[in-house]
Amino acid sequence: MKKVGFGIIGCGNIGPVHAAAINAVSNAKLVAVSDVVEKNAMKLADQYNAEPYTDYKKMLERKDIQAVCICVPSGLRAEIAENCAMAGKHILSEKPLEVTTQRIDRIIKATDKYGVLLGCIFQSRFAEGSRLVKQAIEQNRFGKLVLGDAYIKWFRSKEYYASASWRGTWKLDGGGALMNQGIHQIDLLLWFMGPVKRVYAQTQCIAHEGLEVEDLATATLEFQNGAYGVIEGSTAIWPGHPARVEVHGFEGSAVLEDGKLVFWKFNKRKPIDVKVEQSMAKESELGSGASDPLSALKIEGHRRQIEDFAQAILKGRKPAVDGREGRNAVELIEKIYKSARLGKPINV
Ligand SMILES: NC(=O)c1ccc[n+]([C@@H]2O[C@H](COP(=O)([O-])OP(=O)(O)OC[C@H]3O[C@@H](n4cnc5c(N)ncnc54)[C@H](O)[C@@H]3O)[C@@H](O)[C@H]2O)c1
Repeated sequence: MKKVGFGIIGCGNIGPVHAAAINAVSNAKLVAVSDVVEKNAMKLADQYNAEPYTDYKKMLERKDIQAVCICVPSGLRAEIAENCAMAGKHILSEKPLEVTTQRIDRIIKATDKYGVLLGCIFQSRFAEGSRLVKQAIEQNRFGKLVLGDAYIKWFRSKEYYASASWRGTWKLDGGGALMNQGIHQIDLLLWFMGPVKRVYAQTQCIAHEGLEVEDLATATLEFQNGAYGVIEGSTAIWPGHPARVEVHGFEGSAVLEDGKLVFWKFNKRKPIDVKVEQSMAKESELGSGASDPLSALKIEGHRRQIEDFAQAILKGRKPAVDGREGRNAVELIEKIYKSARLGKPINV
């Protein structure tokens, strides 16, 4: 079987999730890892019998690496991605692709120029529940879409923000409860409901003293298809609740919690609904980020997305979530921040 050789740049919290996921994909092989902190690279390399590097550019010289997972802090990716593209490596980047659309466009331009694939990790799209909702929308089972909502009522401790100097900064995190944590559900909402026409938002830092970015945000949305919606995001709500995405239409409603369907009802029933209802008893395939970023996160979402990315490389097709798809949620979050700053509605 043909295998895609992977390298990882950034071996902090999420780098090891990528390593475990690559290891669980039959057509992928972890070749090398890199981190500016030598012990982080050594530890992960040891675990997977991979080669450690402290200089990612040296790692990019390897011919047995075709794809690179970029797992460094969000605002450090543009230059690294440009160098990966120039070295001819396909790029699978963690979310958000970068901290502004301007910086994301640098990455898209470089990957277009050097003819490499660009993917953005949004593992929630790979949950079975998310796929079913998307399919039902494509089959017009909801009828006229009326409301689409995302609720991310999470908790992040003071220790979480203090655990690395880039967290909770505009420059390197790009924002707070929405740009870092809520972005998964915002991406799902856009994937389901389509583009937003107009947004009116408010944000603040309500509970984390000294934090630059928001730990509380609300936004009302008007989608291009005429439906309305709401986004509520926070990292200041103890103990943290499952992340919800709701889609409501004139002929049906569905609600996801952490990628798992908790409500699924349509005016016109189909045989598949019995199976879907039975599957609702199972627990989330993704785990939950409700109260801390990693302890309850499962690798399955990353595994599915990395498998899709490896197949895209081998088959010469686009990945399921490419760079332009990855850009959409950041664009909306930028507009939410702008609306909150100006205190008025913004056309997107
Ligand atoms: N998809 C998800 O569910 C999920 C979960 C957690 C984090 N993330 C994303 O992953 C990214 C990293 O988050 P984290 O929590 O792992 O951060 P982290 O601070 O724990 O790890 C980042 C690592 O990158 C290394 N690094 C920094 N600059 C580097 C460079 N130039 N070359 C090589 N290594 C470098 C750091 O030394 C550190 O080990 C963020 O963008 C975050 O949004 C995604």
